[in-house]
Amino acid sequence: MQPEFVTLHSPACTAIWEARPDEAPLWRYWGPRLPDGVVPPAPLRDTRPEPSFSLHFDQPLSIFPTMGMGWFGQSALMASRAGQDWAQQITATRAEKIADGVIFHMADDVARISVAITIRLNSATDTLTLSTTLTNMGDDVLEVSFLASGNLPLPADSAHVRSYGGRHNSEFVAIDDALTRSQWRRENRRGLTSHDCFPGAIVSCADGAAYGAQLAWSGNHLQTIEWLDDGRRQWIMGEALAPGEMRLAPGQSMTTPELLATCSADGANGVSWAFHRAIRTRMTWPDGVMKPRPVHLNTWEGFYFDHDLDALKELAEAAARVGIERYVLDDGWFKGRDDDTSSLGDWVVDARKYPDGLMPLARHVVDSGMEFGLWVEPEMINPDSDLYRAHPDWALHIGGRPLLGARNQLVLDMSLPQVRDYLFDAVAQHLRNLPISYLKWDHNRDLTHAGNSAKFRSQVLGSYELMARLRSAFPDVEIESCAGGGGRIDAGVIAHTHRFWTSDCIDAISRVSIQRGFLQFMPPEVMGSHVGACPAHSTGRMQSMPFRAGVALPGHFGVELDLRKLTQTETDDLAATIARYKALRNRLHHGRVWQGEAGDSVVWQAHGDEDQLLLIVTRTAPTTMRHQPHLRLDMVDPARRYRLMRDGAAPVDMDGAWLARMGLPLPPMKGEEVLVYELAAR
Ligand code: GLA
Repeated sequence: MQPEFVTLHSPACTAIWEARPDEAPLWRYWGPRLPDGVVPPAPLRDTRPEPSFSLHFDQPLSIFPTMGMGWFGQSALMASRAGQDWAQQITATRAEKIADGVIFHMADDVARISVAITIRLNSATDTLTLSTTLTNMGDDVLEVSFLASGNLPLPADSAHVRSYGGRHNSEFVAIDDALTRSQWRRENRRGLTSHDCFPGAIVSCADGAAYGAQLAWSGNHLQTIEWLDDGRRQWIMGEALAPGEMRLAPGQSMTTPELLATCSADGANGVSWAFHRAIRTRMTWPDGVMKPRPVHLNTWEGFYFDHDLDALKELAEAAARVGIERYVLDDGWFKGRDDDTSSLGDWVVDARKYPDGLMPLARHVVDSGMEFGLWVEPEMINPDSDLYRAHPDWALHIGGRPLLGARNQLVLDMSLPQVRDYLFDAVAQHLRNLPISYLKWDHNRDLTHAGNSAKFRSQVLGSYELMARLRSAFPDVEIESCAGGGGRIDAGVIAHTHRFWTSDCIDAISRVSIQRGFLQFMPPEVMGSHVGACPAHSTGRMQSMPFRAGVALPGHFGVELDLRKLTQTETDDLAATIARYKALRNRLHHGRVWQGEAGDSVVWQAHGDEDQLLLIVTRTAPTTMRHQPHLRLDMVDPARRYRLMRDGAAPVDMDGAWLARMGLPLPPMKGEEVLVYELAAR
């Protein structure tokens, strides 16, 4: 039977499947754009010679490989009905074309499941979006222990994978692994996205192409790359389910989180450009468009739990003077919250600290010309709280097991409607009664003892539902996703939020690599980047104000220190960077971002397009060379000349070809210094 070749093109990518009505579509190609009309030279089904000691039935990589019937790689589904129907194989497939993609409707008549895999290739973003819906067509419960969001092919020259690990205060630690014939796997079971294991990776190939994938999910996840008999590799990614977590009743369906995947002949920078565009399309802004990202002030590191109304008002005045536009009152404002041992769950204003409520401070902030924002941590509860005393059963627990504390807190069971209703009302009353236009939404611990039957998945869905409900009731309010810094940075939660708090580590040297990892997957306008105090609270290291401000400049800029304690020079330097940020933010936050390394502790990033670029050059340690390295800027147009402008230096004109091949000569730089260039094509 002749197959149908199903092809999707975007400007930079192509995907091709070989589809037949009686099996899962075979992956024929996913990679940089092929010309229109290119088809595989021959079908793959039954054309490959049979190797020795092999099944007569050949099983090439499909979009839904399953175990038991001739596939020996990773299975997209692990499921059984009390031990039966553990082997699945698609027996019927129908391809339904949709606007920018295809839905493969599949069924296994023997194991009695139906599977629909929706794949879109967005022309504006060059990103594939995959998700899988599984329906139990049998008469008994189908217990699912894994269902992939997507299963992707990687070419035979895929050589390295970069993933990201870390911990609180140290997010986006790059982990570089060679791809061999051994299996490569990253898995997170902390119950939220985690600091420790970002749900995505970048694969680079010998020919310079790169492939990227990230899961739009704020819970447990896993990804595996495995070598295949034909030399290609299989990259499978999905939610990591706990035992018994997904039991589908007859007729019941489950749909996976979406997997975003892209590839680029231009390497990792091409991948991030696609991801940035994809993330931008997933976001919903108040009034439909992103307004220029306001300069933040966050009270946390300047004040911690020490809320003194007069001091906080003085802070607002000092903030307005340096040009700050949004004032976020962090942890410590609610009843009895003097440290991290109590009160989470009791979202009423502390009358000792705020005898007339929050309105006097909020008014003062708004009257000073700034927006007012408030910190909340809705999913959390301290055992020492009125809420816990009234509803101990609302905290996630396993009967007979101890409650494991972390930062003295427990996690509310977000699958319970009464919990979500309580939290909605608790937050909504402040949004209704105060001029609040921003919520910083925190989540300061991992999930453990997540219910007598595991509730990791329903926890994530419950949080999303609460966020969506608050967004719909208060559409003008923006939300920041925070989890002890960068513990909830992912393409799932961004559909409900507008900014990530990238890390609790505001040390500018640490931030350089954290931000570089972040920018691989997320665009700069959602990267919360603050100027912290000196010495940095998380590391004790000291950096100058211009360096701290320069490192924070390209993201969503903010300040997190007691402005009243700065020297006049520091205040002036900070105000100058704020003014510069305001002048540049529209250029920093709308175009493309390229990142590169020059060696000798110099890294760079360029924002914009081939006509106009902002180039930010960062030196993180003193040079070891007599002369500074050149920066090769291979994104400029080699056919044009560029004018380069930098503060304190005369403009110079250089050929694009020279910048791309020989590189930009750098002036002498201090051990910790940021230079900003503007490049304009002539
Ligand atoms: C987390 C956040 C911080 C701050 C504190 C408040 O650690 O990442 O920015 O909001 O909680 O307790």
